[in-house]
Amino acid sequence: MKISVLTLFPEIFQGYLEASILGKAMQRGLVSLDLVNIRDYALDKHRTCDDAPYGGGAGMVLKPEPLAGALEAVGAKAGNAEDRRGSARRVICLTPSGRTFNQRVAEELAGEDELVLVCGRYEGIDQRIIDTFVTDELSIGDFVLAGGEVAAMVVIDAVARLIKGVIKEDSLAEESFAGGLLEYPHYTRPEEFRGLKVPEILLSGHHAEIARWRLEKRLEKTVRYRPELLKGKEFSADIRDYLDSIQEEGEANGYHKSD
Ligand code: ADE
Repeated sequence: MKISVLTLFPEIFQGYLEASILGKAMQRGLVSLDLVNIRDYALDKHRTCDDAPYGGGAGMVLKPEPLAGALEAVGAKAGNAEDRRGSARRVICLTPSGRTFNQRVAEELAGEDELVLVCGRYEGIDQRIIDTFVTDELSIGDFVLAGGEVAAMVVIDAVARLIKGVIKEDSLAEESFAGGLLEYPHYTRPEEFRGLKVPEILLSGHHAEIARWRLEKRLEKTVRYRPELLKGKEFSADIRDYLDSIQEEGEANGYHKSD
């Protein structure tokens, strides 16, 4: 997969790339990353990339000309919404006002050959760039970051690890969100740490019982932190009974919810 990132701060990506799974994926030729400095496409001698918003208001807006130059340099083409729907290249703008990024979106993007990520700064980017080049607006959550760079790294990380060959397939099968449930807890050596023992069942070698224990833990964690993930899911009668019992227990204990 080829990923181009348009940013005013390409240097932010360097350390992350060297340290992450992505670095290995790049060495192995599974992912290539092109960091493009939007400022290189500014038109004036001061290399200005932002300006005050028309209509007034706080903050600055990223100007359209440098963004258009940077987008065209990576092969993105301007067009109307219809043209862009059929285009091979997804052009993604990171913004708190976009569609929420999640594992499903990551899986969808992992099937693409090429992604272009546009990192906004300041109040946002000129709407005409969104109207003519951008195919997707993505938010990584309901909070506002100082710019799209960290969000772009989140998207790249989540997408790159799903590309075939980047990590082992069985690591993907059981992790959080696989099958719509949060992940079970993990333990490694030593068997006892500061008086805390690894659950007996994990030392038993009974694969079926371990699988059942892990499923129960996934259900408990999901009921506790993300009960909405369970809505509409089908379970066997046995699992449904277990779920009912932990749901009742959870209600009795008044689980903390994030919102
Ligand atoms: N830029 C600023 N905040 C953001 C967010 N929550 N998601 C994506 N891009 C952003």
